[in-house]
Amino acid sequence: MDCDTGVDDALALIYLCSQPHVELVAVTSTPGNVDADQVARNNLALLELCGRADVPVAVGALAPLRVPLVTTPETHGPQGVGYAELPPARRAPERRDAVDLWIDAARSRPGELTALLTAPLTNFARALRAEPRLPELLKGVVIMGGSFFYQGNTTPTAEWNMHVDPHAAAEVFAALAGLPETRLPIVCALETTERIEMHPEHLAELAAAAGCAVPELVLPGDAEGLRSRASNRLVRHVSDMLRFYFEFHRLYDQGYVAHVHDYFAASVAAGTARFATRSASVHVETEAARLVGTTVADYRGLWGEPPNARIVSGNRPAEAFAEFVSSVGALARRLG
Ligand code: RIB
Ligand code: CA
Repeated sequence: MDCDTGVDDALALIYLCSQPHVELVAVTSTPGNVDADQVARNNLALLELCGRADVPVAVGALAPLRVPLVTTPETHGPQGVGYAELPPARRAPERRDAVDLWIDAARSRPGELTALLTAPLTNFARALRAEPRLPELLKGVVIMGGSFFYQGNTTPTAEWNMHVDPHAAAEVFAALAGLPETRLPIVCALETTERIEMHPEHLAELAAAAGCAVPELVLPGDAEGLRSRASNRLVRHVSDMLRFYFEFHRLYDQGYVAHVHDYFAASVAAGTARFATRSASVHVETEAARLVGTTVADYRGLWGEPPNARIVSGNRPAEAFAEFVSSVGALARRLG
């Protein structure tokens, strides 16, 4: 998993830890929502919280390939995990660069590993430069990013992960062109990930599933910045992360909700989500100033180029949250 942990990245990572059938080989930390070192601290802390301090965490690039790094503390909080104050992990990131971790793992287990990318594509682009055979060595690639014929969340047409590092995204999609259809990356873009819209009721259901006797109520009328008093530790931290994220979405007129994009991508990678896809040739704009980071999908072969993506065209929000509540609720109960 390559992430820029962030609140929804955190939910994605916690979800993967709740899946016994998922072997979490490594977590690599890419700058985006917050800087790379903070992402790594968040990843280490979350893995320890979930009892997975065995999973290596690495850092690679500290900035996008060409443009300066822009982070978004207003969206995910100054440390990237909302109001949560995660107990610092007792271990440090690997000394190896994230790219070396990627390539070593893929070469040692050809055709076995799925790459889940929920961050700007900086490190994956660097890995592809270092090992052009990476697409053949991986079993599959799942990308959270892009927005196709749908409004952006960073500029009117661009989605965050694509906008932070447009050159990396352009390199990745160019490198993935022409793969057999069944090997093309699955792209979870805003038009479907914004359907995975978490509400405070889902958090209350999670707390109940975790065995919390007192209802976990995060309400629109609450004073901002309250902290959870849930009896379950994992629920407390998830609640504190989501409260910040609910407040952010409301501030930007989307309602007291949370678009948990990365959790949906993680459920696709874990094989626990039902979804439909359409193949397309994806272009990532890197030159036109107002359009940098914009992704365009040619579903009809008008450009005469081979497809390089299978874009999710349909998903099932109610099933997604039922799965999240039952899986993460059970993990929270196990952890106590
Ligand atoms: O646009 C949503 C994406 O950008 C998600 O991955 C979120 O974590 C942010 O990184
Ligand atoms: Ca992310």
